[in-house]
Amino acid sequence: MCGIVGYVGHQRSLDVVLEGLRRLEYRGYDSAGIAVVADGRLATEKKAGKLANLTEAVSAHTADNGIALGRTGIGHTRWATHGAPNDRNAHPHTSMDGKIAVIHNGIIENFAHLRAELEAAGIELASDTDTECAAHLLAQAYATLDHLPVQSTPDSAGRLAEAMRLVCRRLEGAFTLLAVHADAPDVVVGARRNSPLVAGRGDGENFLASDVSAFIEHTREAVELGQDQVVEITPTDILVTDFFGVAVTPKEFHVDWDASAAEKGGYDYFMLKEIAEQPQAVADTLRGRLTDSGDLTLDEVRLTDQDLRDIDKIFVIACGTSYHAALVAKYAIEHWTRISVEVELASEFRYRDPVLDRSTLVIVISQSGETMDTLMALRHAKEQKARVLAISNTNGSTIPRESDAVLYTHAGPEVAVASTKAFLTQVVAVYLVGLLLAQVRGIKYADEVAAVVQQLQKMPEKISAVLATMEPVRELARDLASAQQVLFLGRHVGYPVALEGALKLKELAYMHAEGFAAGELKHGPISLIEAGTPVVITVPSPRGRAILHDKIVSNIQEVRARGARTIVIAEEGDEAVAPYADHMIRVPHTPTLLAPLVTTVPLQVLACEIAAARGHDVDQPRNLAKSVTVE
Ligand code: F6R
Repeated sequence: MCGIVGYVGHQRSLDVVLEGLRRLEYRGYDSAGIAVVADGRLATEKKAGKLANLTEAVSAHTADNGIALGRTGIGHTRWATHGAPNDRNAHPHTSMDGKIAVIHNGIIENFAHLRAELEAAGIELASDTDTECAAHLLAQAYATLDHLPVQSTPDSAGRLAEAMRLVCRRLEGAFTLLAVHADAPDVVVGARRNSPLVAGRGDGENFLASDVSAFIEHTREAVELGQDQVVEITPTDILVTDFFGVAVTPKEFHVDWDASAAEKGGYDYFMLKEIAEQPQAVADTLRGRLTDSGDLTLDEVRLTDQDLRDIDKIFVIACGTSYHAALVAKYAIEHWTRISVEVELASEFRYRDPVLDRSTLVIVISQSGETMDTLMALRHAKEQKARVLAISNTNGSTIPRESDAVLYTHAGPEVAVASTKAFLTQVVAVYLVGLLLAQVRGIKYADEVAAVVQQLQKMPEKISAVLATMEPVRELARDLASAQQVLFLGRHVGYPVALEGALKLKELAYMHAEGFAAGELKHGPISLIEAGTPVVITVPSPRGRAILHDKIVSNIQEVRARGARTIVIAEEGDEAVAPYADHMIRVPHTPTLLAPLVTTVPLQVLACEIAAARGHDVDQPRNLAKSVTVE
């Protein structure tokens, strides 16, 4: 939630910050704002709505308020938590003397208490936000530190950074804060607790941002910032301390995405581009992890073979689309390893009393690596002494940092709010974990595992083949755009695929859509079917377990008999289903467990095109944010 950018250097901060916000807008688009320090003055502008509103407002003002001049600035794009999404509550928030500007991502939980304290001290708050308290507290702390120089050196505290440390020690909850001061022309100070923040090291310029996509156009050298740390950037330095001023040597890393990976590249929407990138994303996630002899190498898994042999139970925990990847994990890992796997929504996990201990492996899946529900589940698992393995797409994010081991997916930046390529790579990652466990523990299905390893390597090609045949799906989407509801059915791994198809359609097209295990239909949901109701069914390979295939063919007949319009996703050559399909979408032959890698793709295209046909913003659906950093 919320995108944050800070810049100090030799360029116009307005340009760098607005461009960074444009790349971060997927994190929230309720409002946007900017603060720039120029000639001892602080200039701010903020507007409700999308970034375009801010850009327009700024262009009307640049000459008179100094925004165009400064080389130090911060910017924010908001996903509202406290206070309505209007101009007043947009960030930045300023101190009463107008000298300090603050932007924030997260929730300051003790804000009601702090607000009351500030009001008692005669401070009039201009917004309903929790963030504004931080601006006033910072001004109070800054005023008490007049013996300090404005800027820190490696040996001495600077005034704005020290004030930030004092304030952070009083705040509860989750926050990333950035602040600038009119009297500190070359300094941006940041702080983080339970919310993302990363620094970028440039040449005579430095950056702060919620994630690296905001600055990769300028530098790919990044600096990880840990929990409860304060960072001060100047054109030449990035100084990091804990909240008590103890210097920290941060970990540096090189970002291997290039800037064009975060651009639309000729597609109408990021989502379409990201769907098209899936063969590459899957290939990148497999690369270097499968040897020619079929053995698996997972270098980032820092658990010993003995650790893996000792595991007697697995939980897979995630939210939303990542939860659907977790459901696929259950089918694959249980089958290959015979270890019992429980799948849990992160938001539920710690509120019950899950049974786990040292021999439990908890796999947390999070594209962003910042989802608060998943982070809290991870922490709960660690408190119970379980081992935690993170599957994430975001290097340096909180969830991988706090886990015992990490398997990164290599999907590259996913900008569209609806997850597509990250999902497919998460599915690949859970297969890799399952295959690794099977390999280490010695398993019943050794031959099958070897065959699966070979099949996995063919998946990028098969996904490309599916993508090449999507034109009829686009046409069908235009036809379905006026439907009242769409139902999705699947069995086995087709069930999570059905849930994912329905979620994509709900979030993008704002239509009623439900995914069901096909066998459950007759236990209630079948009454939803009326004449013409579109029902999308994914059919498992007829070359797999015959019973699975036959049962779903019966389910298709059942819904068709009640008037449904059947849209069937089936393997090439599967003629048994053809008589019952009003629309047939063909995918290449794929072993049942790997099928989600091909069958999900038409559902993504369908949802994207239906949303576009209904006139919705495909990349930024209403009420959503890419990274959900509040519980
Ligand atoms: C839906 C979608 C969300 C995310 C969920 C978890 O298209 O993207 O449901 O999957 O918010 O996000 P991560 O994986 O970042 O933890």
